Amino acid sequence: MEPHESTCRICGGRVREFFDFGRQPLSDFFPSPDQVDEEFFFRLAVGMCDACTMVQLLEEVPRDRMFRHDYPYHSSGSQRMREHFADTARSLLAGELSGEDPFCVEIGSNDGVMLDVVRQAGVRHLGVEPSGGVAELSRAKGIQVRTAFFEEATAREIADEHGPADVIYAANTICHIPYLDSVFRGVDALLAKNGVFVFEDPYLGDIVARNTFDQIYDEHFYLFTARSVQTAARRFGFELVDVERLPVHGGEVRYTIARSGARRPTARVGELLAEEALGGLGDRGTLEKFGIRIRRVCDDLIARLRELHDRGFYVVGYGATAKSATVINYARIGPELMPFVHDTTPAKVGCLLPGSHIPIRSADELGPPYPDYAVLFAWNHFEEIRVREKEFTDRGGRWILYVPEFRVV
Ligand code: SAH
Ligand code: TMP
Ligand code: ZN
Repeated sequence: MEPHESTCRICGGRVREFFDFGRQPLSDFFPSPDQVDEEFFFRLAVGMCDACTMVQLLEEVPRDRMFRHDYPYHSSGSQRMREHFADTARSLLAGELSGEDPFCVEIGSNDGVMLDVVRQAGVRHLGVEPSGGVAELSRAKGIQVRTAFFEEATAREIADEHGPADVIYAANTICHIPYLDSVFRGVDALLAKNGVFVFEDPYLGDIVARNTFDQIYDEHFYLFTARSVQTAARRFGFELVDVERLPVHGGEVRYTIARSGARRPTARVGELLAEEALGGLGDRGTLEKFGIRIRRVCDDLIARLRELHDRGFYVVGYGATAKSATVINYARIGPELMPFVHDTTPAKVGCLLPGSHIPIRSADELGPPYPDYAVLFAWNHFEEIRVREKEFTDRGGRWILYVPEFRVV
């Protein structure tokens, strides 16, 4: 096989690369200064399957390297996301979980941000979360959690112990799982006859339209569309019955999947499929053009940062996000141009960014004295961050955004 091809994890078709970010580190491993030798690197390249249009990475990072006891991402870290998940839980409770003794399973429940609301309502639930640290945090809140990877075997055990699930929910997790075939077989084993499998993930349509290429990193193995999800679901005896666009994380879609024939798809499914066809989202040409824009934005960003540096300005980064690894390492931004990145997550402070080894400082240390510019790597939390760091801009500091293109605000 050509080095720029792989075999589709879902249908066995030919996946052809459309962009190569080169050698990249694990995005969510922030080494302490004495751990820099432990970093793991892989080739981050992304392609589309000729047969089923599923966009996927060409190389898979072993799951135990990514989802460890010390997995640093805590879902509750953002006020907006806490509200989003509370709303999600309330709408599930009012709808799919309103029957008699309902049972809700969440895949990738992290620190329990969603399930805590389900727990408070007294509804039977189970989180499936392989990262031990966040699983413990949610257990401390009284949430039921199994420290495991969701896959066929886990799902069968859960079904044996607890009976069928009315809702299997996942946010920002299904796209992390290359072995999606095993997930679907697991859902088949666990889901009630008229139950729903609901998951939400970054949407390829928004990623291409907004040029948010930094959503591509080790953990995001798949970039879904309604078409690719529908095709995958059908292979395993399911049907895509609803889609909902969500504004979070730069644009996501919430997919609702039911057993074939169990429910009638809403008009929204057909509408999104039509929109995708019109926009050429399943065409290689669209993705190749996206690749050209990725290059241009990264070339532009590094050139502007060099220029600001040469003119004597002090520029830092803000938000030690997983997605920052892609842009920082691809554009080759190092500590000489960006001495620090600031972040509110206690576990990240004092550590280094992966690959570039830019030191992470707390958000409270942003100032005063404040830097001249801060590159916003957590652009998906801009509204919240802008309020938190109001003093920075009040004192003349400026935010630099790089998606959809370089701009100073
Ligand atoms: N749902 C949360 C967390 C997303 S981060 C949110 O939207 O904020 C992704 C989570 O998925 C991590 O906590 C990771 O440990 C978990 N995960 C990864 N692979 C998994 C699998 N196979 N089964 C269940 N959880 C998984
Ligand atoms: P995310 O983009 O993957 O959700 O990660 C957001 C990161 O940004 C996380 O490390 C926390 C950090 N952050 C701040 O530093 N300040 C803030 O005000 C917010 C909301 C997040
Ligand atoms: Zn395929």
